[in-house]
Amino acid sequence: MKGVVLAGGLGTRLLPLTKITNKHLLPVYDKPMIYYPINTLIKGGIDDIMIVTGGNNAGDFLRLLGNGSDFGLEHINYTYQEGHGGIAAALNLAEHFVDGEKIVVILGDNIFEDDIKGAVKEFEKQERGAKIFLKKIEEPKRYGVPELKGNKIINIEEKPKNPKSCYAVTGLYMYDDRVFNIIKNLEPSARGELEITDVNNAYVKEETMTYSILNGLWTDAGSSFKSYYRANKWVAEGLISKF
Ligand code: G1P
Repeated sequence: MKGVVLAGGLGTRLLPLTKITNKHLLPVYDKPMIYYPINTLIKGGIDDIMIVTGGNNAGDFLRLLGNGSDFGLEHINYTYQEGHGGIAAALNLAEHFVDGEKIVVILGDNIFEDDIKGAVKEFEKQERGAKIFLKKIEEPKRYGVPELKGNKIINIEEKPKNPKSCYAVTGLYMYDDRVFNIIKNLEPSARGELEITDVNNAYVKEETMTYSILNGLWTDAGSSFKSYYRANKWVAEGLISKF
């Protein structure tokens, strides 16, 4: 399976830190933020990786990551997103790279303690569809939130006022190659973006969406100062494994 790291966007929730740089390049304790999701993929056995970025600082990713030697890689692939059309629009740019394979997609600001190796193996065996990863949290309102019936997801709502469960849909997704057709048929949401939640709901409707519940720590370091601080603290305290 191939891996795609989504690292575009304007990072407005971390202004003024993001006024002169991309949020995924900000430090999380002793490493740039994007190192953590890349490391999650590599530990999970995914070493053919594309970074999708954009904005004024896209060149800095090349300066920082080069061909991936810090991670023991021989090459990394890059692509550039014009404007900011949302997570699903950014993913769509990876179609030529993915070339018909299944993929693991990870958001460049998401920090996971869990090892995803087992889930990658499970998804390789899954005939078709998608897989997402849920984390029980106190404030699901700020995220995609699943509605569960028995052990099935029946719908996902993006940033709901009244969340239907206490789980967040984390920024780690596994898709079959039909994901690009789904994206092409999406309409922009009220915030003018192609939403990853709409992609996931297409698989939910088709009843080919599976999920796992994460046991380890998870945070999206780029979504608020509180979660950015939390990520730094966890790494400093050794709760997120060093690499
Ligand atoms: C995005 C997704 C949301 C998901 C979150 C995880 O939110 O839209 O469903 O729960 O990432 O980090 P955003 O960071 O774009 O607000």
